[in-house]
Amino acid sequence: TEDLIAQAKAILRRNDRGGYTVPTHGLYPFQWNWDSCLSALGFSHFDEERAWTEIDTLFANQWPDGMVPHIVFHEEDDGYFPGPEVWRTGRPVPTSGITQPPVAGFAVRRLVERARNPALAETRARALLPKIHAWHAWFHRCRDPQGSGLVAIIHPWESGRDNSIDWDDVFERVPTEGVEPFNRRDIQHANPSHRPTQAQYERYIWLVQHFRRLGWDNSKLHDASPFQVVDPGFNAILIRSCTDLADLAERFGLAEMAEQSRQLASNGIAAMDTLWSDAAGQYLCQDRTTGALIQSPSIAGLLAGFADIPAPRAKAIAKRLAALGEQVDYLVPSHDPSVAAFDSLRYWRGPVWLIVNYMIADGLFRSGESVIAQRIIADSLRLIERSGFAEYYDPHTAEPCGGDQFTWTAAIVIELLS
Ligand code: DGY
Repeated sequence: TEDLIAQAKAILRRNDRGGYTVPTHGLYPFQWNWDSCLSALGFSHFDEERAWTEIDTLFANQWPDGMVPHIVFHEEDDGYFPGPEVWRTGRPVPTSGITQPPVAGFAVRRLVERARNPALAETRARALLPKIHAWHAWFHRCRDPQGSGLVAIIHPWESGRDNSIDWDDVFERVPTEGVEPFNRRDIQHANPSHRPTQAQYERYIWLVQHFRRLGWDNSKLHDASPFQVVDPGFNAILIRSCTDLADLAERFGLAEMAEQSRQLASNGIAAMDTLWSDAAGQYLCQDRTTGALIQSPSIAGLLAGFADIPAPRAKAIAKRLAALGEQVDYLVPSHDPSVAAFDSLRYWRGPVWLIVNYMIADGLFRSGESVIAQRIIADSLRLIERSGFAEYYDPHTAEPCGGDQFTWTAAIVIELLS
């Protein structure tokens, strides 16, 4: 245990660029939004000051409209595509123009709760709270214009689950005409059979060019996107962050913020039920363009348990996980292995991701489903012992996939073992 923690700390230090960490050397040479917030949890066990700085640096690059971008390009590095010259968002420090799962509220609450230096924690949290609140308000204003209680993503990269099977049908609607020629760099750093396909990349880039033409104006992008998906995992993260922010706001005497955050969370929880499928035994994504549920049993519908969903729903998710646990050696596969398109090595079409395991287990513990939550944690640690600190893992063989020496994987190991 001590040895694993020491290795994990060394990875965080190695990937520290001063004020922010890169997810891994080579493949991801900048600051990523949810990577940073989750990595702060790892730092908090041995360097609280550094943990706060990780989140502060991200929020220093928040947009005036409230959005927190998914990548901050702090330094030039031509080893990544698409870089700032493709996004062209016009920000002082260049950033991408889309967002990522809003784990910041959850992470900040955790940092406050465990603070060994409560005065430092209060100062830093008080400065961050209004910014996180503005981001949540941005989501509801710009990504839920009809006031449904749930927000849509407008690009697969926003979900973090870039090439999920969930997007395959909706992606048919995204054209590729007019995509400027490009040179992928990801497949020079990582095994191409672990990465999204060329056809998917063309659509990712078409969407970026489309939003760029609209001047990155978030009052237009949602309605103008041919890709509008309501993802239960993404929404659960937002709901959980609203709940955690409400608790923090109460603690610090910020009554109005507390009340607004509480309201957003309870609207979200109520609306989540529209994504429930009895047939699938889990939550599903919704194609907002047609209103239909996407019949694709992915990990998004299990990550939904990260929010405080009703107890019968948590129980059903625990049951689904137990069934998946009979099909794989390591929980939690990012897609149901019985689906034909499942691919145990290809990014979000099957592999296990430690950060998602951590969030699912955390939610299940809160709901009292601790047997399955413990299995998820045990499987996660077996993966590390067997295959090191990879980006993701084959759920059957534990083969390490994608980038190595991965920051958030290391951070979660410190979190689980400390
Ligand atoms: C990538 O480049 O693979 C990222 O997931 C996009 O943010």
